[in-house]
Amino acid sequence: MSFNTFGHLFRVTTFGESHGPAIGGVVDGCPPGIRFRLEEVQAALDKRRPGQSRFTTQRREPDEVKILSGVLAEADGMLTTTGTPIALLIENVDQRSKDYAAISESYRPGHADYAYDAKYGLRDHRGGGRSSARETAVRVAAGAIAAKVLTGVTLTGALVQMGDIVIDRANWDSAEIGRNPFFCPDAAAAARMEAYLDGIRKAGSSVGAVIEVVAEGVPPGLGAPLYGKLDADLASALMSINAVKGVEIGEGFASAALTGEANADEMRMGNDGRPVFLANHAGGILGGISTGQPVVVRFAVKPTSSILTPRHTVTRHGEDADIVTKGRHDPCVGIRAVPVGEAMVACVLADHVLRHRGQVGTPPVWPFPR
Ligand SMILES: Cc1cc2nc3c(=O)[nH]c(=O)nc-3n(C[C@H](O)[C@H](O)[C@H](O)COP(=O)(O)O)c2cc1C
Repeated sequence: MSFNTFGHLFRVTTFGESHGPAIGGVVDGCPPGIRFRLEEVQAALDKRRPGQSRFTTQRREPDEVKILSGVLAEADGMLTTTGTPIALLIENVDQRSKDYAAISESYRPGHADYAYDAKYGLRDHRGGGRSSARETAVRVAAGAIAAKVLTGVTLTGALVQMGDIVIDRANWDSAEIGRNPFFCPDAAAAARMEAYLDGIRKAGSSVGAVIEVVAEGVPPGLGAPLYGKLDADLASALMSINAVKGVEIGEGFASAALTGEANADEMRMGNDGRPVFLANHAGGILGGISTGQPVVVRFAVKPTSSILTPRHTVTRHGEDADIVTKGRHDPCVGIRAVPVGEAMVACVLADHVLRHRGQVGTPPVWPFPR
């Protein structure tokens, strides 16, 4: 299975399966001299960790990350990157492979089982093997390091829709995101989601979600037209997350319903003598290049395919069958996809910061030369 690496200058490679001894990865290309604490990487992983509420899988994984290389431990407890590959290791400690006996023979509708067999002719069925989102823990650890490369950038991920419950943006309170088990910025919507997801969970069903990630403080100039556009790279990175079926930037699909006047991000000269945008329908990216406005991305996560409700399928021996997927599964994988989305955005932005530096060196200052 090739293609386990993403990024150009800030490059992340991951390895490992859901029920193997460990998962891990290598961050290659992180600049030297970046300082961070191991606890900061661990805190990012703790946001994604399973078993933290009744609304996520009850698999008990501490997700304790070890950094094996690429950093120097300082006397003040900080780690400083040396510019050499940073190896990350997270042990798997709570596998229950017997739960997956049924899926070694039958394909879960909506999961990757059939497609893996169709491609490779064999697969590690235990916990979904490499197709399991267990791998996304490594992305989160890499994203925490990427975030340190992004000086002055603030990343906020939030769940803005679960099933047909959509947040009311008038209720947006960033402090609320950390207060409920859904990373939802609207307290009233979060309360409705709680009752709704309890019903879904008890019925042995699952539901999808929409996640929004906003990056504030992104400098203008990131993104390389034409085939290294920032929006294209963000879409690719977010689409690579398990269960993601749609990505949009700024106004996204809704822009199709707007007129040119409504969609125009008009400009005026600001009080500081620099141009300002009067709206951000573009989601902070024009021509594949960041404008300095907040970068706004959303992605849709489908409902978990491993459900307790029987579904029609076939076995690998060519028989019709019904499948009930046991094991410990998230009733809404969109919840734990929030920190994964933040991590992927951080990795892409860090990669583009380095690429921009590589090509442009010192960025132009306003007023721009002709
Ligand atoms: C954080 C996270 C957790 C997930 N947990 C589960 C799970 O418990 N059960 C399941 O069937 N799918 C889960 N998924 C989704 C599957 O990994 C995914 O549907 C599968 O690999 C097939 O890929 P695709 O949906 O992108 O086509 C999870 C996804 C994410 C992002």
